[in-house]
This record gives sequence, C-alpha cells and structure tokens, in this order.
Amino acid sequence: MKLLNTRWIAGTALILFALGCKGDKPFKPADAYFWVKPYIQLGNSTTIGERDTLEILWLAEEKNTDWSVEIKRYDSFDWQKLSAPTYQRVAVEGAAKHRVYHAVANDLPLGKTFDYRVFVGGKEVFAGTGQARKSAEMPFRMVVFGDCAADTTDQRAIAALVYRQKPDFYFITGDIVYSRGRASEYLSHYFPVYNAEKADSKIGAPLTRSILSVAAPGNHDILTTDVEKYPDAQAYFYYWSQPLNGISHGFGAKGTPVLKARKSKIAAFRRATGDNFPRMANFSFDYGNTHWLVLDSNPYVDPSSPKLRDWIERDLRNSKAEWKFVGYHHPGFQSSNAHQNDQWMRILAPLFEKHGVSLVFNGHVHNYQRSHPLKFVPQVSDNGKMRQSNGTVGGKFSLDTAFDGKTQTKLNGVMYIVTGAGGAKLYNPELNDAPDKWKPFTKSYVADTHSITVMDVDGKTLTLRQVAANGKELDRFTVTK
Ligand SMILES: [Fe+2]
Repeated sequence: MKLLNTRWIAGTALILFALGCKGDKPFKPADAYFWVKPYIQLGNSTTIGERDTLEILWLAEEKNTDWSVEIKRYDSFDWQKLSAPTYQRVAVEGAAKHRVYHAVANDLPLGKTFDYRVFVGGKEVFAGTGQARKSAEMPFRMVVFGDCAADTTDQRAIAALVYRQKPDFYFITGDIVYSRGRASEYLSHYFPVYNAEKADSKIGAPLTRSILSVAAPGNHDILTTDVEKYPDAQAYFYYWSQPLNGISHGFGAKGTPVLKARKSKIAAFRRATGDNFPRMANFSFDYGNTHWLVLDSNPYVDPSSPKLRDWIERDLRNSKAEWKFVGYHHPGFQSSNAHQNDQWMRILAPLFEKHGVSLVFNGHVHNYQRSHPLKFVPQVSDNGKMRQSNGTVGGKFSLDTAFDGKTQTKLNGVMYIVTGAGGAKLYNPELNDAPDKWKPFTKSYVADTHSITVMDVDGKTLTLRQVAANGKELDRFTVTK
C-alpha cells in the first residue's frame, strides 16, 4: 500500500505538472490504476443482431500493465474472460502520455445487464455493470442533451438529473467538451463529471461506466484544426469509440479543413486517433426500434454534396426500423438570435422527409426549442446557390399546426428539436415569453433554465418530455405512428 501511495503521488505530480504547465486546470487521475475509470461505448456496432457487442474503454498511464477484463453475462453464472484489451497510445503535447484501452464485450443478451470487472495482474481494480442494447421489441428510455461539459455547476446538475431518469442510453448533440475539445479538457471537466463516483448535483454522476453514451461532434469538439497550437485538440477522435460506417468528407480534401501543424505533430495526432479520424464524424446505429443517423454539421460540410447525400439516402432507405431519428449539432430551424444564420443543414430537410425521419435533434443553440412538424423546400436564389455566404438558406415551409401531441399525434413532416441546454451558458432567455418574436415554425421555446430531453419509446408510441434541472417538466408530447 505504501508503495502504491508513493507511486500515486509521483504519478500525480508528473501529470499535474504535464497538464498544469500550459495553464490548464490540474488533472487528477481517478485512482492508482486509472486515469479515467471504465466507460461503455458502442464501438463498431451498428444494427442489432441476436446478441449485442459493446466496448469497455478506460484511460491509464503509458506503461505496460497486465490488464484483463471479465464479464458475467445475464444468462450465465460464470465469469468469463474477454479477449485481451487493445490500446491506442496518446502521445501528443498538451497532455502527459497515456493509453486508451478497449475491451470488447460480446455475446451480450439484448436489453439485459452484464457485470464486468477489470484486473491488473490478477487483482481486481474495478467492478461495474453495463447493459446491452435493447431489441426492436423492447420499450426503452433515452435522454438527449448537448452543449454540456463547459466546466459549470449547471453541467454537474444536469449530469445528476440524467442519472435520475435511469435512461437505457443517452445521446449528446455536440459541443461535448469546451472550449476546444482538447484531451486536457476531457480530463479536467468531462470524465470527472460524467464518470463521477456518485450522483450529486454538485459533482456529476456515474453515467458513462454503466450507461451507453453516443455523441455527435460539434464545433467546439472538432473545429480546432490548429494542432500546432493545440496538439491535444480533437480528442473526440480518440476518446469516443463509435461506428465507422459513415462516409468521410475528409480533412484536407477540397472544401474541408486542413490540419495546421508540423508533420511530426500531425503524425502524433493521427497515431492517437487511429482509424477514427476523420471517419467517425458521420455514422449510424440502431437502438431498440429506432435508427439514428449522426452527422457532422460543421461549417465546412457541404449538404449539397452528392457523395454525402447518396450516403444519407442509402442509410435511411436501408433501415427497417420503426422510427428514424437524425442527430447533428447545428440546427437549421430555430428562433434564437444566437446562431440564427447557421442554417445550412436545412438543405437536407427534403431527404429527411422523403425517408420518413420523425425527429431531428440538434444542439449549438443553448436552450430548448421544438418546431411544428414541417416540410421545407430550399430555394436557389439569384446567385444560383441555396446556401448564402452568411449561412442562411431560404425556402418554402409547410407547417403541420394540427399536431398537438395529445389528441393529434401523427406527424405530417419532420419535427426539429434543439436540446442544447446541457450546461453551457443559456442563449436568449429574453425570448421565452415573447412568442411573437419566434419564427412561425417554432412551437415551444424554453431558454431560462438548463434542461434535458427524456424520451420513452414503446413500439409505435413515443413520449417526449423536456425536463429542467430542478425536475420541472417544461414540455411534453406524444407521437404515434
Ligand atoms: Fe456549438
């Protein structure tokens, strides 16, 4: 024990120095073994088979360690050893060298819990419980929120609120980590909050170790391309493990961002991200009877690109799921003054309508908004373009104002939901009680409190509630097929 303590103190001092010398908030490893304790990810699982496969990840110092993982599946009495964990080395400036470990938990009975434990040299150092994805026949609850890890008290209260909802999984609509999606920022105010030891509104909650989380990348996550100045930026690509079944719009290809840095720094960045960069920006997956299309909506994305549109169409057309949802960061339809011109994703609206998408979830605008179900036809203006140089996209709207979510519950069009009140400073609360200033397509607008979206899906019925940090219900409606 004494040896361990000495090692811990020495390791901590090194890490505090490595991260503290750039003026970042000091990072404290979770314990003597883990920088970040285990957390559950989707890995490359897309559709749901007879049994499920998930990944267990953790972060640890850069050194050879005899790690092993055992799981007890729901329908087994025995603990079974998983294949040896693999790892990616993160050796970039701005964070002390460390490893991201991956263990694949396979053959999981759908919708059932599994116990897992992690060992170092035969000694158990962590025990947790996860849950496989639910099958198409099983009802489930999920939470959606965005614009979250801003190192605020609101972020911590929201994490505890999410935990209290007991979701089967949750989805983050981007701007996961402020302000540049750096490894040092994940370590100081992402993992300690969402993988906290206990649920406490002032601390966070033990979400990621037991509940599957999936995220879309926002501007604060992957728009910092100056790897020379911020070598640990774009950590999204090394800390998340999400499907690589989407198209890559590339980095450095025509019209896409270019990583700015010396060759050695770019090489270090690419080693840390492995195959995830830049592919993991667009992907899709299933949960229960829902299909999720997750898109990168950053300003460099061209929603008119035939390559992108072909992939989106193929993905949505091929899905046999009851419900189709789309998640991306920048909302095309919203009523705040903030980011009002970031409308370029409107260009994809006709594709969503054509392929039966019900709900689109966005963040970026730090509040809650929902639209009437709508159809939108983007218009080419005099300059021959749909997307104007200021980011706006004009067009024709058809609003389904008959939908009330109580007696009239079928959507005639797509409903667009902004749920970006997960922790960062709220936008335009003054419009809360000024519906005359909302765009005609906006049905609800709540910007005076942080909040999350809680959605219960049961067969052909979906109930969505927007819940404030204090537990108050801000909005509620039902959608049926
Ligand atoms: Fe944003």
